[in-house]
Amino acid sequence: NWSMDDFIDLQIQHIREEVGDKKVLLGLSGGVDSSVVGVLLHKAIGKQLTSIFVDHGLLRKNEADQVMDSLVGKFGLNIIKVDAQDRFLSKLKGVTDPEKKRKIIGNEFIQVFNDEASKLHGIDFLAQGTLYTDVVESGTDTAQTIKSHHNVGGLPEDMTFKLIEPLNTLFKDEARAIGEKLGMPEALVWRQPFPGPGLGIRVLGEVTPEKLRIVRDSDWVLRDEIAKAGLDRDIWQYFTVLPGFKSVGVMGDGRTYDYTIAIRGVNSVDGMTADFARIPWDVLQNISTRIVNEVDGINRVVYDITSKPPATIEWE
Ligand code: XMP
Repeated sequence: NWSMDDFIDLQIQHIREEVGDKKVLLGLSGGVDSSVVGVLLHKAIGKQLTSIFVDHGLLRKNEADQVMDSLVGKFGLNIIKVDAQDRFLSKLKGVTDPEKKRKIIGNEFIQVFNDEASKLHGIDFLAQGTLYTDVVESGTDTAQTIKSHHNVGGLPEDMTFKLIEPLNTLFKDEARAIGEKLGMPEALVWRQPFPGPGLGIRVLGEVTPEKLRIVRDSDWVLRDEIAKAGLDRDIWQYFTVLPGFKSVGVMGDGRTYDYTIAIRGVNSVDGMTADFARIPWDVLQNISTRIVNEVDGINRVVYDITSKPPATIEWE
């Protein structure tokens, strides 16, 4: 029957004992779990922690900056941020199959991480945001992709890490409570689930900079309106999807031929099943009006009213 404070104190003590004067490496995904581990480890061992944050260019608007501002700015973590957008985009060029896109993004993520990690020396430990549920079943966080590859290629063969997983006895809501106790910002602690391949699977088919812009900017408007309506904690996951077809519209006194954007909002406990969210009509109306007005290239907004099953939450 431990409290959150006890947990934090015990973990800090435990981490200090285990790490001693050695160095620890952490892969940050921008998600809750790896961020909480970062702050916790920093509290325990300070400068002995180095974090690598791979920005694959498939994050939501302002997300990378938000992570850097709070973890570096507020908490003083030492984070190596890798801007790898071009690497990912060129690997994704011409690829339309969803599973191929996932594999490419996952592999490239590990490659970029390893390239950076191999520049560092004298690292003994690799920290991860593994939760209890990830131990039981395999998880869905980007950082988790590193899990099965912690004996990484790209690094010298004999260089292996010992794993540190301070959250592996916790459930998600407990990890969030720890994050709050540690003083982490709400936007980070209450971040909605976000897939490792990011916007790469929300642009259906080939990923291009133009399509990424459209899905990123429309998602930004959606999140802003959901927050304004006070619904951001009530809807489990919500985002926009760019199916990639065009249709006819009319704006001013001209005919348009532009993209349709789809809004997806679901309620769920674990993502295994989901119910489409009953977003009020007037909120949907604001979202629709603003997206068409503010995001170039869109003339139609539709709302996905399918639950899971039979549909999945993501469209790819
Ligand atoms: P689906 O679309 O399968 O999504 O109903 C269920 C939950 O998992 C997330 N998701 C992913 N997370 N890598 C991830 O890390 C992926 O490739 C991936 N695909 C789906 C999705 O956002 C939802 O929360």
